[in-house]
Amino acid sequence: MTVELTPVTESDKPVLANLMQLYLHDFSEIRELSLSPHGTFAYGYLDLYFLYETREAYFITVDDELAGFALARFADDAWTVAEFFVVRRHRRRGVARVAAKRLFERHPGPWTLDYDDNNTAAAAFWHAVVPEPADTENLPGSRTRLRFLVG
Ligand SMILES: CC(C)(COP(=O)(O)OP(=O)(O)OC[C@H]1O[C@@H](n2cnc3c(N)ncnc32)[C@H](O)[C@@H]1OP(=O)(O)O)[C@@H](O)C(=O)NCCC(=O)NCCS
Repeated sequence: MTVELTPVTESDKPVLANLMQLYLHDFSEIRELSLSPHGTFAYGYLDLYFLYETREAYFITVDDELAGFALARFADDAWTVAEFFVVRRHRRRGVARVAAKRLFERHPGPWTLDYDDNNTAAAAFWHAVVPEPADTENLPGSRTRLRFLVG
């Protein structure tokens, strides 16, 4: 199994938007997300990934097949995992573990990420994969922030 990150080009933005719907549908189990009258979830930040060098969007592929995405942004001297998603078919096979490693390796230095405390899969996943030692901060709204250094 080969897991790779491929930068999302602007012409592939609609593909990323499709995957974003699957991700938001998963999130609607843990956050109050409502469907629009068109049957879609709103996501207001997609265009930013094609406008600013401080934002990066990648497809995650497994043996060249689309399997998810990773979005990262740079602010306050650190890269942040903004959104991260592996489609259900490919979960619990180590895909996200490899994809996160590939993402972190692109930018050695300080990283942060936030997760919802009731997203038990994300909590277990990030604690399993971020480099130790990681600083853990409880945020308002039942969220947790991890800060760590990628060497
Ligand atoms: C979280 C997510 C990215 C994990 O993807 P994945 O490819 O299944 O993760 P991996 O197979 O690489 O898991 C690596 C380790 O993380 C932990 N882990 C991953 N999913 C887990 C789950 N559902 N429950 C408990 N532990 C989990 C385990 O320690 C796992 O190692 P193991 O399988 O050897 O036990 C995926 O479930 C997902 O996309 N969820 C919906 C979107 C989301 O919540 N994204 C994170 C936003 S902060």
